[in-house]
Amino acid sequence: MSVLAIGYSGNKRVEYRNFVREIINDLPKNSKVIDVFGGSGLIAINVKRDRPDLIVTLNDFDNFLSDEYMEINDIKKRIYEDLKNADLHASDRKCENVELLQKIILSHIKNVTSKRVIRDVIRDFMFSSKDACGNIDINNYVNDLLYIRKIPEKYVKIYDNAIIYFEASKKIDNIIHCDYSNINLCEYDLIILDPPYLNSSQKQYNKEMFFSVADTINIIQQIPTDRKFILFNQNHKDIIKIFEILHVKVIKENKTLRSMCHNTLRDDWAFYCVRLSGKCEISTS
Ligand SMILES: C[S@@+](CC[C@H](N)C(=O)[O-])C[C@H]1O[C@@H](n2cnc3c(N)ncnc32)[C@H](O)[C@@H]1O
Repeated sequence: MSVLAIGYSGNKRVEYRNFVREIINDLPKNSKVIDVFGGSGLIAINVKRDRPDLIVTLNDFDNFLSDEYMEINDIKKRIYEDLKNADLHASDRKCENVELLQKIILSHIKNVTSKRVIRDVIRDFMFSSKDACGNIDINNYVNDLLYIRKIPEKYVKIYDNAIIYFEASKKIDNIIHCDYSNINLCEYDLIILDPPYLNSSQKQYNKEMFFSVADTINIIQQIPTDRKFILFNQNHKDIIKIFEILHVKVIKENKTLRSMCHNTLRDDWAFYCVRLSGKCEISTS
């Protein structure tokens, strides 16, 4: 079965297919699984789809899968219809008629008040690196609306996929909206951790919180002894050192090569682990 996914910076589509799915398929019937750092919800959605018997909890910290999700898709669909009718096409270069492009986009968002909706709509029409690093000025963006990055004629397929994805998310057993530190991880048989990577300021996520090394250590320390978990990270050496300090045993690991930009690849690691008993050597509190 294919993996359900939508365009979302940092989604774990490939890792789900190559690594997570096998672990999920081996879980005992009715096990409880939590996806603590939900992002687009990809992992929780696909876990529930592959194993409907599992009790799945998604922590949607950013409220990503709220009704605003469909509002964003509806607005984009209308914009792409207008672009198609105006004969404007996708390209890596600046749009051939920037004024018309800006006029069309603004006509669809002039009455929108939600910053999240505005930001998620306009990011399709900005230089890709601006979008990737979340460097969008929500109060002064009009002059950055210069590109059409998706093919208007194909947008209907993206839209249909967005609806299928949203519908699949409704099958998840529990959707919560918490800071990771407020979740009681003892309740779950498998804990999935895909946090923002070490020391990164997360401007592309709605809440734009800084996620520190201490946060990564804290969340691992919250895992009960003998409990299995999956953790994603890009720095193999750092995370292995943290595992040593926190008495974590790696059961298996997997490397995925991710494309950053033209001709630049980086490693992305996934670890399936168990927390062993033993006194930790550090405290982050
Ligand atoms: C790398 S993304 C997860 C991507 C996801 N696995 C997917 O496939 O779409 C990290 C997520 O952690 C969330 N996050 C950041 N700080 C958090 C916190 N303190 N507590 C809970 N979630 C947090 C971010 O908002 C973002 O949604």
